[in-house]
Amino acid sequence: MNMQMLGLSDIVEQYEARFENPPILIRASGRINVIGEHTDYNDGFVLPAAVDKYIFFALAENGTRECNFYAANIEERFSFQLKDMQPGPSVWANHLMGVLQQFEKGGVALEGIDCVFGGNLPIGSGMSSSAALECGFALGVCALFSLEYNRKELALLAQRASHEFVGVPCGIMDQFASLMGREGQAIRLDCRSLNHEYIPLDLGDCELVLVDSKVKHDLGDSEYPKRVAECKAGVAVLRRHYPEISSLRDVTLDMLKLHRSELEDAIYRRCIYVVKENARLQEACRCLWKGELERLGALLLVTHEGLRDEYEVSCPEIDFLVDFASGYPGVLGARVMGGGFGGCTINLVRKDAKEKLLKEITKAYFRQYGIHCEYYFVHPVDGTDVIRGS
Ligand code: GLA
Repeated sequence: MNMQMLGLSDIVEQYEARFENPPILIRASGRINVIGEHTDYNDGFVLPAAVDKYIFFALAENGTRECNFYAANIEERFSFQLKDMQPGPSVWANHLMGVLQQFEKGGVALEGIDCVFGGNLPIGSGMSSSAALECGFALGVCALFSLEYNRKELALLAQRASHEFVGVPCGIMDQFASLMGREGQAIRLDCRSLNHEYIPLDLGDCELVLVDSKVKHDLGDSEYPKRVAECKAGVAVLRRHYPEISSLRDVTLDMLKLHRSELEDAIYRRCIYVVKENARLQEACRCLWKGELERLGALLLVTHEGLRDEYEVSCPEIDFLVDFASGYPGVLGARVMGGGFGGCTINLVRKDAKEKLLKEITKAYFRQYGIHCEYYFVHPVDGTDVIRGS
């Protein structure tokens, strides 16, 4: 979908055109993930960062029991009574209602809310617009009703909203990154304990560039829950031999190889990918600390191969972009980012090669698929925050 890019002032203007009460303002960040894909719901490790692509919110209480939302980028409105919250066809509204429902479950007495939101965070491109939507709104609700939730609690609340109301069994990476991001840093997150450390994203003469394939295969919606289930199925088989394991986080390559014949081929490949990806992430963190960027780039490429061949969440358009970039002088590595089946590739590129690469990749991609890809320069920033409170 081509959407218009909106800034904070646009959102305030749109709010004022519709509603009267003075709003609080929130800025919610999207995220990138350097490495560690599809590991979060396996209790593994991820290395995301909040980035400077945002959804802005203007919201206020309206003194009624009704909520009125307006999604400015896509010019859609949605109103409902608090007592009638039900998942429906509007996915973005489901994310917001899901958040409200979680506050209610936590014993919060809600009031009606007027809210306008929108920004420059691409939708459905693997940069976690859904998590930014949930996290920004959750922080806004806290600010409106003076609720005391810490950021980890809010990330978990937003994740539950996705699980229980939207029906997406996502991991915790996106919500955590959106709320816990820090300027200039990536977050090495242990998705089991939620322990985390910040690692400077110092890339010297390189930078990370996202190339948006502009495709989103519907298949992705059904395959994500399927991958979650496949990983669980692998664990269930291995638990017969190792009752102490509870997720792929606890599984070793030796265990998998030893019991390969008991696992369906696809399940085996999903599991081996996850186990290797967790190990790759540890190495990638060491590379970042030591400034070994060539090796980091090589790891990104190996991750892509794993996502393509073992985890099977890539698609021809994305493979084209990765292949083109990785064969290009000055590109250290590239891979599909996020859930997969389209969206963005993340590319580690020498700054002086960037412009030429983007020119050529755009041309080649258009020649091949007739699609204008877009690219985004992103920088690690502080996560989702209140810009103006009540
Ligand atoms: C989506 C999910 C995340 C994570 C990634 C893949 O972004 O929301 O929880 O599983 O896919 O790494």
